[in-house]
Amino acid sequence: MVPHETAVRAQSRRWLVTGSAGFIGSHLVEALLKLGQTVVSLDNFATGHRHNLDQVRAAVGDNAWQRHRFIEGDITDPDTCRAACEGMDVVLHEAALGSVPRSIATPLVTHAANATGFLNMLDAARLGGVKRFVYAASSSTYGDHPQLPKVEHVIGRPLSPYAVTKYLNELYADVYSRCYGMETIGLRYFNVFGARQDPNGPYAAVIPRWVDQMLKGQRCVINGDGETSRDFCYIANVVQANLLAGTSANPEAINQVYNVAFGESTTLNTLHELIATALKGNVPGLEIAPPQYGEFRAGDVRHSLADISKAKTRLGYAPQHTVRSGLAEAIAWYVKQASA
Ligand SMILES: NC(=O)c1ccc[n+]([C@@H]2O[C@H](COP(=O)([O-])OP(=O)(O)OC[C@H]3O[C@@H](n4cnc5c(N)ncnc54)[C@H](O)[C@@H]3O)[C@@H](O)[C@H]2O)c1
Repeated sequence: MVPHETAVRAQSRRWLVTGSAGFIGSHLVEALLKLGQTVVSLDNFATGHRHNLDQVRAAVGDNAWQRHRFIEGDITDPDTCRAACEGMDVVLHEAALGSVPRSIATPLVTHAANATGFLNMLDAARLGGVKRFVYAASSSTYGDHPQLPKVEHVIGRPLSPYAVTKYLNELYADVYSRCYGMETIGLRYFNVFGARQDPNGPYAAVIPRWVDQMLKGQRCVINGDGETSRDFCYIANVVQANLLAGTSANPEAINQVYNVAFGESTTLNTLHELIATALKGNVPGLEIAPPQYGEFRAGDVRHSLADISKAKTRLGYAPQHTVRSGLAEAIAWYVKQASA
């Protein structure tokens, strides 16, 4: 068993996972239940799906599923957050509205979930005596700062309402740790991908959207010249970071924010090739057209690459999956779904 799993198994804790019907949250619930933990989870299905929870149930089995209780509720309601936090040891807060373009289209909606909802959860955790509050921060906090790779203490100005909300999360978490002695840890995710990430809708992330389009014989659109780059991070690495953050006994690990990425840069052109190659390996005879090039997208940063040494040193983060190995697993899953 790997160190983060041993750390979780060593003690039986009560975990609250918000955003559990979504992509990352559903993987956290699955991992915790497989490690014998008791889990309450919360979601309002704004962008998440019941079928994600059904898949978790199938993956962990009915016995483990009995250690899970689901609350259908909205984090913009403080009472819902209070009820969910009652008796919890650790919160893994994932619920939010993702997507930079969504936040530019409907900033108030994003603010309600990501800023007000976040503060509701943080305060509910304080009032409920939760020991540790781990939350999904974002690489968007680096904004317009040009430095690469990104190190946690050097940030620029936010480029979107979404980025403002995610930075606000960090500011509130820091202040709650100072004013109330809460233990908080922010995980700045960099372009996470894997099974159960939603390919549908106008705000779908690039990997599931392209996989879906290629499987349907559609041509993918690259925003810009394709040399925009990202640090794509497989979901298993993100689960590992959360379990380490939820259990770390290192005093230097607490009340910090961390980059959670793989630490490797991939351009969109390369990503298109990697996905096409992996898909062809899974679906013999699949024809994939070259990409079309469109406009650059407002609010997008040109390059994003993380320095992950802080998470390695303080949390013991050791990502096991490269972009390629993660894509192999993710694409096998999408192909299976498409043929089911
Ligand atoms: N996926 C990424 O690459 C990435 C990158 C950086 C940060 N993040 C952050 O990670 C977290 C999880 O993202 P994801 O990719 O799993 O997205 P997701 O959309 O799959 O999951 C988010 C979940 O939150 C739920 N939710 C939204 N508003 C809610 C509300 N008001 N009350 C209760 N539940 C609500 C949704 O229904 C959904 O199930 C988010 O906070 C996101 O901002 C993700």
